[in-house]
Amino acid sequence: MLVGQSPSLLLHRGFPLIQGINLPHEVDQIQDLEVRDSDVFVVTFPKSGTIWMQQILLLLQSKGDVELVTKKDKVSNADLMPWIESFGQVQEFITAESPRFRVSHLPYYLMPAALCREKGKVIYVARNPKDVLVSSYHFHKMAMMLETPASFEDFFQKFMKGEVMGGNWFQHIKSWFAHKDDLNMMFLTYEEMLLDLTSSVKRLADFLGIELTQDQLQNVVKHSTFNNMKKIPQANYENVPRELLDHHESSFMRKGTIGDWKNHFTVAQNHQFDEVFQREMKDFPVTFTWDIRDVS
Ligand code: A3P
Repeated sequence: MLVGQSPSLLLHRGFPLIQGINLPHEVDQIQDLEVRDSDVFVVTFPKSGTIWMQQILLLLQSKGDVELVTKKDKVSNADLMPWIESFGQVQEFITAESPRFRVSHLPYYLMPAALCREKGKVIYVARNPKDVLVSSYHFHKMAMMLETPASFEDFFQKFMKGEVMGGNWFQHIKSWFAHKDDLNMMFLTYEEMLLDLTSSVKRLADFLGIELTQDQLQNVVKHSTFNNMKKIPQANYENVPRELLDHHESSFMRKGTIGDWKNHFTVAQNHQFDEVFQREMKDFPVTFTWDIRDVS
């Protein structure tokens, strides 16, 4: 079944798969995968800082050595830390050497059941959903495998219905957060990374049991800032072929800030969003930073 009218999204067990990128029978194999203690899954709703976390984790593994994570034969960081649900990746995961670091946009119920026996580690990155919506709008314009939004209003309404890449933001975050005590999970937000990258990297290193010298830590931080990632083709995905991403339309590293939604939302859209947010998230124990000015 298609999602909404979009020919690019296929609803599979309640989650929109991207045609040509995710294969339903492979996604179904993920739940039964054996998980090793050393496995790490970065889980995000799309446009919440996935490639940023890829860059940080690759640098943590290389102890800040950027040369090791920018090999010329790599198109992007996804070659080293792929999406588990991308075609061909399940088989690759089964035979890969440890440690296996993967990213995923899947909801909790489609991920390996072994994770809830505290096997492996999960890093969930959340971002304020108004900025996610805006970032996703621009990404849908540049991603050739996704439907181009007819207008911002049209995309806004689809996002609210969960008819976009990643599905329903509210369900995604709640499905993972509800299980945080069953998993070996670290939860952090895009905004806390942006406001204090050094502390976030330290917490991540502790969570993963990676020891770093002060210099190594500084190098991880240095090579994962927005401005520096923008200069690294593997980190900013600029070499991903035009058949997949139209780099003239937008860029993967677009603004990298908090509160860009204010440049896009109308008063009516903001009102609608707030109503849904309050209804859906009233019992959710995490608060979001909606504007960079709130914290400066
Ligand atoms: P914007 O479109 O708002 O700029 P994902 O990797 O999940 O697709 O998320 C992409 C978003 O993360 C984009 O947001 C991108 O600019 C932002 N991003 C990537 N690396 C970043 C960094 N080092 N610092 C801040 N934002 C970053």
